[in-house]
Amino acid sequence: MKIGIGNDHAAVDMKNDIVAYLEEKGHEVINYGTDTSESCSYPEYGENVGRAVVGGEVELGILICGTGVGISLAANKVKGVRAVVCSEPYSAKLSRQHNNTNVLAFGARVVGIEMAKMIVDEWLNAEFMGGRHQTRVDMIMAIEER
Ligand code: RB5
Repeated sequence: MKIGIGNDHAAVDMKNDIVAYLEEKGHEVINYGTDTSESCSYPEYGENVGRAVVGGEVELGILICGTGVGISLAANKVKGVRAVVCSEPYSAKLSRQHNNTNVLAFGARVVGIEMAKMIVDEWLNAEFMGGRHQTRVDMIMAIEER
C-alpha cells in the first residue's frame, strides 16, 4: 500500500522508525514530514498529508507530532479527511471498521515505538464494515457541506 507520513520536530525519530517498519512490511511510504529537530508548525504537515490522501497521491496517511492532537486537528480540516488520534490499538482498529478513518495520528511523546507499531498494525489490517456504519460516516461527511 502507498502510505503518506507526516510529522513535526517532536516526532522525527518516531517517524523514521515507523517508515522503516512499514517498508519492511512492503509498503511504499511517501515522507511529507520534517526531517530535522528544528522547531516547526504541525498544521502544515497535517494539511499536506490530508491533501495527499484526499487527492489520491496516497491511499492512507499517518501523522505524528508530540501528542498527535494538533496534527490530526489540522488534517481534519481538509475536506474528505477522517483523521483519528489514538494511543492504543483498539480505537485504531475500530476507527477503521466503524468510522472508515483515512488518516491515523499518534503522539511521539505519548506512546513508545512498540505501542505505535501495534496501533499502526491494527489500523492498517482492519477493514471498513460498511452497512449501518456507512450511513453514519455519510452523516459525518455531510457536515462538511453545511
Ligand atoms: C510541539 O511542541 C507540539 O505542540 C506538537 O508536537 C503537538 O504535540 C501538538 O499538538
